[in-house]
Amino acid sequence: MEFARKVLCIGAGYVGGPTMAVIASKCPEVKVVVADINAKRIADWQTDNLPIYEPGLEAVVKTAIGRNLFFTTDVASAIAEADIIFVSVNTPTKTFGIGAGKASDLQYWEKTARQIRECSHSDKIVVEKSTLPVRTAEAMERILNANAEHVHFDVLSNPEFLAEGTAIQDLLNPDRVLIGGPETARGRAAVEEVVSLYAHWVPRERILTTNVWSSELSKLTANAFLAQRISSINSIAALCEETGANVEEVAHAIGMDKRIGPKFLHASIGFGGSCFQKDILNLVYLCEHFGLPEVAAYWEQVVSMNAHQRTRFVSNMISKMFNTIVGKRIALFGFAFKADTGDTRETPALYVARELIEERAHVVVTDPKALDNARRDLADLPQDLITYESDPYKAAESAHAVAIMTEWKLYKELDYSRIYASMEKPAFLFDGRNILDVDALYDIGFSVYPIGRPGKSRL
Ligand code: UDX
Ligand code: UDX
Repeated sequence: MEFARKVLCIGAGYVGGPTMAVIASKCPEVKVVVADINAKRIADWQTDNLPIYEPGLEAVVKTAIGRNLFFTTDVASAIAEADIIFVSVNTPTKTFGIGAGKASDLQYWEKTARQIRECSHSDKIVVEKSTLPVRTAEAMERILNANAEHVHFDVLSNPEFLAEGTAIQDLLNPDRVLIGGPETARGRAAVEEVVSLYAHWVPRERILTTNVWSSELSKLTANAFLAQRISSINSIAALCEETGANVEEVAHAIGMDKRIGPKFLHASIGFGGSCFQKDILNLVYLCEHFGLPEVAAYWEQVVSMNAHQRTRFVSNMISKMFNTIVGKRIALFGFAFKADTGDTRETPALYVARELIEERAHVVVTDPKALDNARRDLADLPQDLITYESDPYKAAESAHAVAIMTEWKLYKELDYSRIYASMEKPAFLFDGRNILDVDALYDIGFSVYPIGRPGKSRL
């Protein structure tokens, strides 16, 4: 079949995979190829057992795979035939050299840019989908257009705002699509090409076009603001615990103010996920780089507060459990960084598990989707102190405490009388997500400690 347009995405991860599946399903006349150097990932995308768990994803992939959606490891040939190339390779926080711990590690991005240049024999539009520091597109344009005699590259920014667990809904019905491009005739034409893809299903008024830097910076800023709300409410949760106020009531009261709004005000053990911390640190690094140390310090505090919240949670567990947890079995309910995903990147559960193991507790990890990732994440720790168990009832057997790490619906619906009966006494329940009914659990016999709300102790 002849396709009107050929789109390629390099990077078949959490962002690239679902985004391209939706583009392919909505634009049947466009050929969409997803390429990745990871052969297993590419193979898995073509089975019933997709490499990532995302509600609704399988159905979308099925509508298009083999029709106009294809997966390959042959990145070079895919580049050669593409008109528009989205790049969504990972851009982790640098672990070495200048900017270590804050700046983005751009090595995969640059390597990909060079490969695009080598394999291109016709003009291409290159779209940064990965979240990148401001002005990366400009640098990439220089790399791409250096030595490229007969070929021209237009580099655009089209950041992704999807959240894991709701990725398909977010893609099908986005609040906005943002496309940044150079303010030249060529640049504007390139932007229009990408606009026309999204316009298959997104109303025009929700497709914003800006200059490249605004687009890049908007992504970092959106994530920084969202994370800031969580750190803000978590800081108030700490104060609630001291004063007897209830953080849920405070969040509800302030959220009714239209200027504040109700979303992203759930107190928790802290935010996780691959983006928030990485993007804020990236913003901090940029501010430092541009000589704005006060601005950098302001945003860095959002990350520090998040770390403090996790540590506070563990300290509270230890102090409630008579100041020692050596040898005590503690069941962690959930390991994913939030519900409805198997993703464990930067999950607060990982930090909590590590701190508990440092205190020589025995940690039992259970999660409906993230156990394989948990095994990998905790591989460097003494395995005699860790048990992985898919059944939450078994995980809680003989445990001194259960701690809710992820707000899986399943954990709200468990038979806590049965769990209580199988646990060591006194039985502790630490609710790091505020999803359980404190009074009902107390009546069963637990000592219950939620976040930012009065707990109920039987001791
Ligand atoms: C990634 C970035 O982490 C994030 O900053 C950005 O906003 C979007 O892209 P994600 O899709 O979650 O997010 O990353 P990941 O699931 O790790 O997928 C990246 C994929 O790129 C991996 O499958 C990896 O194999 C692939 N890759 C990486 C390449 O194909 N080539 C490379 O050179 C490097
Ligand atoms: C986020 C952004 O929402 C998305 O727009 C961007 O493209 C990528 O980063 P994601 O990381 O998938 O998406 O999840 P999100 O739903 O934002 O949650 C992030 C973390 O914050 C999770 O650990 C979640 O449990 C936590 N959270 C969220 C809270 O603790 N309280 C809240 O009120 C909301």
